[in-house]
Amino acid sequence: MGLGDGLTIRVPGDKSITQRALILGAMAHGESRIGAAPRGADPLATANALRALGVPIHGLDGPATAPIRIEGPGPRRWRQPRSSVDLHNSGTGARLLAGALAAQPLSVVLRGDESLSRRPMRRIAEPLRRMGATVEHLEGGGVLPMRVAGGALREIRHDGRVASAQVKSAILLAATGAGVPVEVREPRRSRDHGERMLEAMGVQLREGWQDGAWSVRIDAPPGRLAPLDMDVPGDFSSASFLLAWAVLAGQTPRLTIRGVGLNPTRTGFLAVLKRMGVEAEAAERGDAGGEPYGDLLVAAPERGLRAVAVGGEEVTGMIDEVPILAVLAARAEGVTRITGARELRVKESDRLAALAVNLRRIGVRVKELPDGLEIDGTSRALAGRVECFRDHRIAMAFGVLGAAPGCDIPVDDPGVADVSFPGFWRLLERVGDEARGRDRSARSTKKEQSRCPVVAIDGSAGAGKSTTAAAVAARLGFRHLDSGAIYRAVTLALLDSASGAGEVESISTAELEALGIDVHWGDAGMEVRIRGERAREEDLRAHRVTAAVSRVSAVPAVRAHLLELQRSAAEGPGLVAEGRDMGTVVFPEAALKVYLDADPRERARRRILQQGGAEPDAAEVEAEVARLRARDARDSTRVVAPLLKAADAQRLDTTDLDPETQIERIVQLVARALKQARSPLPAP
Ligand code: S3P
Repeated sequence: MGLGDGLTIRVPGDKSITQRALILGAMAHGESRIGAAPRGADPLATANALRALGVPIHGLDGPATAPIRIEGPGPRRWRQPRSSVDLHNSGTGARLLAGALAAQPLSVVLRGDESLSRRPMRRIAEPLRRMGATVEHLEGGGVLPMRVAGGALREIRHDGRVASAQVKSAILLAATGAGVPVEVREPRRSRDHGERMLEAMGVQLREGWQDGAWSVRIDAPPGRLAPLDMDVPGDFSSASFLLAWAVLAGQTPRLTIRGVGLNPTRTGFLAVLKRMGVEAEAAERGDAGGEPYGDLLVAAPERGLRAVAVGGEEVTGMIDEVPILAVLAARAEGVTRITGARELRVKESDRLAALAVNLRRIGVRVKELPDGLEIDGTSRALAGRVECFRDHRIAMAFGVLGAAPGCDIPVDDPGVADVSFPGFWRLLERVGDEARGRDRSARSTKKEQSRCPVVAIDGSAGAGKSTTAAAVAARLGFRHLDSGAIYRAVTLALLDSASGAGEVESISTAELEALGIDVHWGDAGMEVRIRGERAREEDLRAHRVTAAVSRVSAVPAVRAHLLELQRSAAEGPGLVAEGRDMGTVVFPEAALKVYLDADPRERARRRILQQGGAEPDAAEVEAEVARLRARDARDSTRVVAPLLKAADAQRLDTTDLDPETQIERIVQLVARALKQARSPLPAP
């Protein structure tokens, strides 16, 4: 695979290595320099905790290219902090600091955010107590907040039940800080960044398999640690999200990620990718502070992804890559089986549960096992909103899947990616743009669309959307996109197809393509076509279509399939797009978003009149109100494209407004929004 004939990128520095470098630098004697340290939320939380413990750290606020300098005060010279020390979301920070604090003559309370406060801490409290430290869980439950009172420690041999680099490092730090020998044994070999760094600082270690366990021993820790001088390589775990993007995006034949850490205890995911049929290579280029680094190269498989079985030892070497493997599995042919991954239940979220719930939401069949997942890959369009559970890797894994063709997967908390990968979403967008940029016509359509102002009108049934949207479009000379008519056309075509609408929930992309739904813009406005023929209004409004359309339009694959078609309407002087997810999903960048609402009684009255009825009496209105309320509840709680007011939409209550006033109000809002867009003023 040649370099330079595809996209080339870099990813931020390794979070695991950076946190260790910060803590070890703070235990050393003299000034340490850490280059290319990422400024993600986790490393910053650890650095700020060390500052609270009296360790001077410089350069943190600078760009990630500027090195961080730590003035290591020497052994056991940290200061008693004024209050508890907050590690926010960082499990590595909390556990490793607890180890380092066990050797300091201080009494420090460690705490964290809601997610970190649920994670198990007994696994480090117990060995640290055996070494002689006092460790208390202040609110019980074996979790944070936790007080660590340290001092003189004694030698122990720790036989860990689970393979955990955090536990191993915490104990090694405690022993090194206190100057006592130690042996840590684990059932599988976890990542060894701590060991490599300790060696670079002058500590001699003995490592190897012994009686079925991986053993790490320090027999004679030196009195003081030499300072560190290192550049942090790119984070393999962050890189793996982009590797997966390249595999799923399809358009980019090759992606190169430069300067990534290639420590063999971290790169297990590469072997799994190869088994899935992906051409993936690691080319080692050097060594930084005892850590090998180099370039990762990947090309999308020509014949699609194959399902795999992953378990046992292999999981330890790719513990943080299971979420991204799970989303790849959603697109692989066959059932992928992941086992031996019980530890995932106690990461930033219960990742097995989070993956299962979200995969199901977007339309993938998945079985949750006590220690893993079985994922039935599919080529169907996937759509639905994903819940991140405050977990950066869940957000990024689904972000990558959402950027793939045929997927529409907004995530509820994108900002959480900052924990390990600041700039993730920008990079994902950039690689996507560059990949698409190779296709000139795609680029010009995009430019065309970005020049066309969009007015998104969403709202509940009977709030007056359709009449208002059509009239506003006519007044402004804009196109009027009636998304409801497109969903009706799909329903009509399905009802007339051989298979009918009976199994619409499992419809494939190919079957949707075969329905031949298209939109044509002529003098009379929007015309929906089914296999080239104009769909007639009376057919679209037929009772059998009305009865089935809400079910058809709730199917994620259907919504994803129609996304591009709806977006392609944004051409010409302007577009008024009317529907239920115009402002939230289809046109999130709309120049103006309006959300129409009205009192349920008034909505009920209007619907009866709209359907050709006479002025209704109170009982008829009440009956219609009950139907509307049920529909509102269904629409706003459904998983796919629920009826929601976009956060930046203007709510317009139309209860007491006659149609002319409604239209006038919206036309004025459009004029104001367009004026602002032309001359953006700073907020007062
Ligand atoms: C880490 C070790 C792993 C990993 C985490 C970072 C570390 O956790 O999941 O993201 O820096 O040591 P465990 O050691 O608990 O498996």
